Amino acid sequence: MYRTHHCGELNASHINQTVTLCGWVQKTRNKGFVIWVDLRDRYGITQLIFDAERSEKTLMESAKNLGREFVLQITGTVIERASKNPNIPTGDIEILVDSLTILNEAKTPPFTIEDDTDGGEELRMKYRYLDIRRNPVKNNLIFRHKVTQEVRNYLSSINFIEVETPYLIKSTPEGARDFVVPSRMNEGQFYALPQSPQTFKQLLMVGGMDQYFQIVKCFRDEDLRADRQPEFTQIDCEMSFVEQDDILNTFEGLTRHLLKTINGVEVGTFPRMSYDEAMKTYGNDKPDIRFGMAFGELNEVAQHKDFKVFNTAELVVGIAVPGGNSMSRKDIDKLIDWVRRPQIGAMGMVYVRCNEDGSYKSSVDKFYDQTDLAKWAELTKAKSGDLICVLSGKTKAVRAQLSALRMELAERLGLRNPKEFAPLWVTDFPLLEWDEETQRYHAMHHPFTAPKPDHIELLNSDPSAVRANAYDLVLNGNEIGGGSIRIYDKKMQALMFDHLGFTPEEAKAQFGFLMNAFEYGAPPHGGIAFGLDRLVAILGGQETIRDFIAFPKNNSGRDVMIDAPSPIDSMQLNELNLKLK
Ligand code: AMO
Repeated sequence: MYRTHHCGELNASHINQTVTLCGWVQKTRNKGFVIWVDLRDRYGITQLIFDAERSEKTLMESAKNLGREFVLQITGTVIERASKNPNIPTGDIEILVDSLTILNEAKTPPFTIEDDTDGGEELRMKYRYLDIRRNPVKNNLIFRHKVTQEVRNYLSSINFIEVETPYLIKSTPEGARDFVVPSRMNEGQFYALPQSPQTFKQLLMVGGMDQYFQIVKCFRDEDLRADRQPEFTQIDCEMSFVEQDDILNTFEGLTRHLLKTINGVEVGTFPRMSYDEAMKTYGNDKPDIRFGMAFGELNEVAQHKDFKVFNTAELVVGIAVPGGNSMSRKDIDKLIDWVRRPQIGAMGMVYVRCNEDGSYKSSVDKFYDQTDLAKWAELTKAKSGDLICVLSGKTKAVRAQLSALRMELAERLGLRNPKEFAPLWVTDFPLLEWDEETQRYHAMHHPFTAPKPDHIELLNSDPSAVRANAYDLVLNGNEIGGGSIRIYDKKMQALMFDHLGFTPEEAKAQFGFLMNAFEYGAPPHGGIAFGLDRLVAILGGQETIRDFIAFPKNNSGRDVMIDAPSPIDSMQLNELNLKLK
């Protein structure tokens, strides 16, 4: 037996027991006649003591030569510590070591294995296995495990079964590019790695599985951000004989269960908001509703004066920044520079100071009097002491700009409390989205999403007005899940492919298997997929998913530890019938 206990469990109740522990050397303190060693494993740290008076000479010599991260096995007696450490569970005791085995030596690690390390991101990624020894990363992985376990428990308890679907498949259209895998046995042909198991879960419904889930890897070749990885994990779910409400209620149940068991937070019924309302009120389809700063549209009260910029704008819209009037002129100028950065792209920003005495002072006083500005304040719900920030321009662009400003200000004002959870369903997404680049409509969610039944007629006359039975679950301003009610009728699916610009032949070549399946009794069905990495990060009070993935890729999609992607040798290329340009 390698060990009798782990390094996090011994306390005063074990005093006088002989124990054997294994772990890594966190640090040593050599006082000459006494040497202390902190021994660490996943469970905690236990202090070892080597004492010239009580320990053999050879043991003292070995202890002196221990380096950081050496792997040890020790046997000794649990004794009471002279100076106790109330900050750790093992702080009342130490182990007087009788025997020491060095199981492995270690090179000096390239960064300190401490909670606050001196290692930069890239270095820590390269030595991720050392980074995982640090509490913040280790605890995130343990946290992820707990969330995953609760998901499995909850869904299993309500009759969902987990079914695995293949990874070597044919392209699934989720809007990103596919990663492809050449087939050695089928010359010139490729598998695609799934962007999601979408078509398979629908086929499982045709197969009568009724309620399916899977915690599954998905692969998308898209530009990366803090909340995006090229391979990520979904909690993928599908249900038969359901309407939108059944799905929202079921997964609201799951989310509530997680918030309760993982975070100890009870939340009431999740609010629901249509996509159109979210865009109008927050300029964003994943609004953070932990704080106000709702948009006030000002066209009616700001246009038709002499201010040309507003008169020619499609939308004039503002937000009230709580307490913003305390900002100096310099601070406001900096904010204006911030919105004018190319990443945000606003032309400029008009502002109104809401003074304590109820008067207003704006950057456009030449054009607007106190009565005008009072109307702006009313529409943006500004109070005395606030600052109203107003942007104008094309509706879509200006909403995105003001939404970015809203989030930035909320961050600066500390309004995004990671311990507070504000879930929100956003519903009634547009079915189709016009793509300027390809000059055609794309499915906003995916091509299997059902239009709202009373919108089918609009498909021909006004495609962009068609709304879908599609929904997202938003948590603290992050899209943590998305899904829809599916088309289950072959004719409707064919009509959809037609609207998406597929010829019947193309549709058959790509999705013939699904269309065929629909001829054998497909039940009405729908589902959702949560982004597990995002969900875990947000429940953990953070937004960078990399910190919750054991071996993540960097922003260029590289695994710098194993050095992937990498070239393959010519023999392998030949075998796969591939030639490099
Ligand atoms: P969707 O494309 O909305 O839906 O994806 C579902 C959820 O997966 C997460 N997600 C990601 N997380 C990390 N990195 C990425 N690159 C990434 N891309 C997506 C998001 C998102 O909400 N098949 C449909 C689901 C359905 O209709 O049932 C789908 O994949 O949190």
